[in-house]
Amino acid sequence: MKILGFESSCDETAVAIYDSQLGQVEHELYSQVALHAQYGGVVPELASRDHIKKCLPLLRALLAKSRYQLDDIDGIGYTAGPGLLGAVLVGATFARSLALALSVPSIGIHHMEGHLLAPMLEPDKPSFPFVALLVSGGHSQLIRVDDIGKYQLIGDTLDDAAGEAFDKTAKCLGLAYPGGAALAKLAVSGDPTRFDFPRPMINRQGCDFSFSGLKTFSAQLIAKLGGADIDAQTRCDIAAGFETAMIDTLVIKCQRALQQTGLQTLVISGGVSANLRLREQMQQKLAEQGGKVYYPRLEFCTDNAAMIAFAGACRLARGERDGEEFTCRARWPL
Ligand code: KG4
Ligand code: ZN
Repeated sequence: MKILGFESSCDETAVAIYDSQLGQVEHELYSQVALHAQYGGVVPELASRDHIKKCLPLLRALLAKSRYQLDDIDGIGYTAGPGLLGAVLVGATFARSLALALSVPSIGIHHMEGHLLAPMLEPDKPSFPFVALLVSGGHSQLIRVDDIGKYQLIGDTLDDAAGEAFDKTAKCLGLAYPGGAALAKLAVSGDPTRFDFPRPMINRQGCDFSFSGLKTFSAQLIAKLGGADIDAQTRCDIAAGFETAMIDTLVIKCQRALQQTGLQTLVISGGVSANLRLREQMQQKLAEQGGKVYYPRLEFCTDNAAMIAFAGACRLARGERDGEEFTCRARWPL
């Protein structure tokens, strides 16, 4: 099967074709980051308007560079939520209209299911069952995954998501939104031990997270040290201290989730899984207890359509498809 995938839940318009016979994917992506940067965050109405402009040109660009034509497509998967509802509706409407025109089935995909299955696009892929750590701008969750659609939430954030804490700390350091990757770059030259950042919730039982205290600690420290006037080395030290505290907390919770479930396989996905130190530390710490970690390639950590095409292929292969009703959701538990 050749499945077309669309992603438009936030500020990336993306389209991909997954070929299940070859296990290969081709994709195109347009990021709206520059459009929203001047506002310090994503402006939903601007995001929707831009998705409308980009869907067709991106699809054309993908077809032009790929070995496939529209006639080859057997089905379409698209993000049906959670996300910015207007943005989701644009991609969903485009995808469903195209499916109707091509007389192929379509299926609405949960954006986080896409992230969760993204490591399965790699040659060295995990097999079920596994524990998934989903860490993005809107989610920090630990999920036990037994099969496609068999998901059990074992840990969630009580307040901010991991990516949100990265972005807010980055903003206090004067970095442009979304600042996670830029903060990680500063951290490379920093001393993580100079400031004593808290490791939230590690002494509390269970697998839940809370990052608002860590975020507030960063904000207060940065304000105390002089805000925008902080010298370059101190900025790097703050970034390194924050990043290390975040990683330590995520590693401890993942170790706990594996112990609790008796599983040895961990999958990490979502935008924050692009963090190289997180990947390295998690690999090293879990290997010490016999665990193995799987990640998507870097370009499939953040939002993309390859993961949606793949999830669509899995669901369509099981006989699932859209009915007459049209359902998109801003909020949607996995
Ligand atoms: O999955 P994603 O692209 O969008 C959502 O569904 O939210 O995740 C975006 C988040 C942002 O908070 C961004 O700052 C963070 O992922 N992020 C990173 C890195 N790259 C992206 N955080 C830490 N280190 C990175 N290298
Ligand atoms: Zn995402």
